[in-house]
Amino acid sequence: MDKIQILIIDYGSQYTLVIGRTLRELGVRSVILPPKKVDAWLKNNTPKAVILSGSNWSVHNEGAPELPKSLDITGGKYFILGVCYGMQLLAYKLGGKVDRPLLHREYGPAMVNVNTKHPLFNGVKAKTKVWASHGDTVTKLPKGFTSIATSGGIASMSNKDNRVLGIQFHPEVTDTKEGKKILQNFLDISGCKKDWNPLDLIREIQKEVLGIVKKANKQNVILGVSGGVDSTTLVAILAPVLKDKLICVAIDTGGLRANEITELRENTAYALSQGQSLRKKDIKNFKIIDASNEFIKNIGTTIDGEEKRAKFRSVYKKIFEEQIKKYNAGFIVQGTLATDIIESGKAGESAMIKTHHNVGLDWEVDDLHPLRNLFKYEVRELARALKLPSAVYERNPFPGPGLFLRVVGTPVSKENIELVREADKTVRDIIKKNKIEKEISQVIIALLGINSVGVKGDERVYGHSLAVRAVQTVDFMTAKGYYFSQNIMDEITSALTKHKDIVRIFFDMTPKPPATTEFE
Ligand code: XMP
Repeated sequence: MDKIQILIIDYGSQYTLVIGRTLRELGVRSVILPPKKVDAWLKNNTPKAVILSGSNWSVHNEGAPELPKSLDITGGKYFILGVCYGMQLLAYKLGGKVDRPLLHREYGPAMVNVNTKHPLFNGVKAKTKVWASHGDTVTKLPKGFTSIATSGGIASMSNKDNRVLGIQFHPEVTDTKEGKKILQNFLDISGCKKDWNPLDLIREIQKEVLGIVKKANKQNVILGVSGGVDSTTLVAILAPVLKDKLICVAIDTGGLRANEITELRENTAYALSQGQSLRKKDIKNFKIIDASNEFIKNIGTTIDGEEKRAKFRSVYKKIFEEQIKKYNAGFIVQGTLATDIIESGKAGESAMIKTHHNVGLDWEVDDLHPLRNLFKYEVRELARALKLPSAVYERNPFPGPGLFLRVVGTPVSKENIELVREADKTVRDIIKKNKIEKEISQVIIALLGINSVGVKGDERVYGHSLAVRAVQTVDFMTAKGYYFSQNIMDEITSALTKHKDIVRIFFDMTPKPPATTEFE
């Protein structure tokens, strides 16, 4: 797969993801990373351009986010564009001055006069409407820079050879009328080529995997499937090229949600048959292994989250190894995404947040992660391009270790898993009934290890507490808590507390960061 051409450093602006999405709309892929993960990423990657996002911080505040140590801001290695805080940080670090000359923050629409001779404003009107949101402003340019737009103060800057650029306003926001044109100009200046086309990407993945499999001249390829969007999309991508060599294996861990096995069977068979109606022959290379007893035997008394994941990984690996032997496979393929790799600390030296169940396992055969450079929303686009059903590409994610992660601070016994499975179904049914599925990226119901007092039918009870957490996110690197309406919260609370042992429901709206999506 082609290298990522653009790195976006996320300084926390609410618009950072919009920069990524706008670039994708312009046909170019990018990766968005927080500053502290950039050094590790740059060790293994050389982008053509780097964009520094906006932020709520002032460069003068103590604790303000810094430039990553290894980032070259001279423009020598890659083109640089600072947006808002990104421009202020560049100007400040390169010897310019940043002040707060305005009494109030400049927030909202503004008119900017641009130097239309500069390639960043090629084709842009001399006076153009933009969206601004800032308190600080660059008041003195660094040496070698010129102002290329003004709106009272300096609204944009460029160094001599146009390799280091800054814009005080937000080109990614639709209220900046010609913002897309400006970003397109930056892509042109930095020589980025269109590389985001789902069908090309699909062909590249097919070519890459086929090349490896052919060269090694080994036998079969095992693909771990879960019925989710990532692995199902991977089946649909690889089935046409690997044909009978592709063996899909799913594990019933005992931690799946209600109806999940049925959905998994249908989704995988559909992907294997390339969208044709289901036929028996299409599902001959598809096995579901019931390992629920083995998982519960190994994990059933564990409380600590990472210990649980470690045990889950070792049972998971053992079962796949048995299948590898059985089918004389030379490869194991998994639908691991960029997020999983970054959060498992496998992208260079980034901090390990969670050990994802399928990242960094030491297999005896080669393991392939063809979706490793993609984010969830990009995989959904591949699924759409492959004409998979909306039930697949709109499907909310569910973690491999499943309901084992949803019993928190108390042992993951069979009974506790059963209780969260039922609760999960109850809440998802309510979400469906109220037609708010599309507003929610993922919903999590967790049994908390807190028993408390309640009163049911005039009697004191001492029972369980559940947490209900829904989030909204684009890429799962960051997320916002979703606020249910009061009526829906009442409906959920009432439905869940009908269970005789459940007395208390907590709603969790904590964003990520600081909280992760899952509880452990
Ligand atoms: P966190 O909790 O890290 O989760 O914010 C981000 C997304 O990843 C899912 N997740 C996992 N998926 N194996 C998986 O396949 C795992 O070990 C795992 N841990 C978290 C989580 O459900 C969310 O969608």
